[in-house]
Amino acid sequence: MAESPTGRIVAGALSPHPPHLVYAENPPQNEPSAECGWEGLRWGYERLRRTLDQLDIDVIVVHSPHWKTSQGHHVLGVPEFKSLSVDPIFPHLFRFHYDLSVDVELAEAIAEEGQAGGLAMHVMRNPDFRVDYGTITSCQLTRPAWDLPIVAISSSRVYFDFNNDVGDRQMVALGRATRRAIERTGRRALLLASNSLSHRHFTQEPEIPEDMSHERIYHHGQYLWDMHVLDLMRRGRTRQLMAEMPDYIEHATSECKDGSLSWLLGAMEFPDYPAEVHAYGTVIGTGNAIVGWIPPETAAEVAR
Ligand SMILES: [Fe+2]
Repeated sequence: MAESPTGRIVAGALSPHPPHLVYAENPPQNEPSAECGWEGLRWGYERLRRTLDQLDIDVIVVHSPHWKTSQGHHVLGVPEFKSLSVDPIFPHLFRFHYDLSVDVELAEAIAEEGQAGGLAMHVMRNPDFRVDYGTITSCQLTRPAWDLPIVAISSSRVYFDFNNDVGDRQMVALGRATRRAIERTGRRALLLASNSLSHRHFTQEPEIPEDMSHERIYHHGQYLWDMHVLDLMRRGRTRQLMAEMPDYIEHATSECKDGSLSWLLGAMEFPDYPAEVHAYGTVIGTGNAIVGWIPPETAAEVAR
């Protein structure tokens, strides 16, 4: 297939998936209901959505830490999925009825490009597969209308089986494969990296989960790391961020160890323009940031 001139990544976002944020929003698809909670992060998602609403997008490509695959990288390859997703740790917060469509042609192209780049790739063809709650939560908070097809990519265990450096190298290769597939198929894609930042957390929940008097950062050291990482993003220093990523993952027990952010930065060719940090806040003590990258070509389109 010839490369299409219209195919490109129109935006990228760090869009973390704590189920608490969906719980606190009370969308009709979620069974539990909340009074309030985590407003700083939810209003950040609102600002991200307002930015993205101005863009012409065909498809959302999301990399989620909670579809864990031990043999290579998998992509969803069935046109429709409809079922109930229950968070295994927080079943009292997240019982979400989802109904989504998949851009199978793009998914297959990502698998082909990944294989061509030396990665182990699989297209997941089981129609009864239950889509992971990380994918669902990031998509729900970013695009609650569910009016676009998605491609979901699994998190391989390469960081855990080898080490953080090997993991990052492989995720950058997967990001490049994703970019090539988007260009080849002519898609205008939004990329979502679904991970949280620092990830130490409390192990006891208050009686009322949304009681914000219990919510705060778990550990000052991980807060300092998160602020450093966000500062690098805001200054467009994503190559430095990649160089420091293995240490960040260890020192802040970061969920970046599942590879989503490294994949995003690789796909977007290490943005040197400033990211917009829409919000930072904690969920059971973990650090979460909602961050958008709008490439200059996209910004120019919006300005016209
Ligand atoms: Fe997670």
